[in-house]
Amino acid sequence: MTAETTSFDASRRAFLVGTCGVAALATGGFGTALLADDAWAAKGIKRRKNGKVVVRVDKVPALKSDPSRVLLGTVKGTPVAVVREGDSYTALNLRCTHQGATVEGTSDGWSCPLHGSKFALDGDLERGPADSNLAEFTSRWRRKKRRLIVG
Ligand code: FES
Repeated sequence: MTAETTSFDASRRAFLVGTCGVAALATGGFGTALLADDAWAAKGIKRRKNGKVVVRVDKVPALKSDPSRVLLGTVKGTPVAVVREGDSYTALNLRCTHQGATVEGTSDGWSCPLHGSKFALDGDLERGPADSNLAEFTSRWRRKKRRLIVG
């Protein structure tokens, strides 16, 4: 394994995340974790060779609290997060619906660094110039195994 790190700016603070782990953040109302693109090494999250990411929701420390989220890095070229609300887990496309910038996590949702659109944790639009919610990303819920297959 290399000593490579990935940087990500959330809530105007820079966090560094090693390729072999997840950094949990205290961001107010709900937990957040940032995950490098090499998700295969994070507890409860594996990246398959076909590009899909398997999230064993009960094994991911960042998804223990409700609500919460974990960033998966990019899945098939798209920045994606998994958001937990109650017992519902949703893969969210983090590309802003205005002009496609990657939104950043805030204490209560998402914010676009390009023109300032705001979104709730579940992706619902709160303030433009974007005019629609963040999109869900392709995923399948495996109820018995409690796994979300993303991608
Ligand atoms: S690209 Fe997000 S508000 Fe413009």
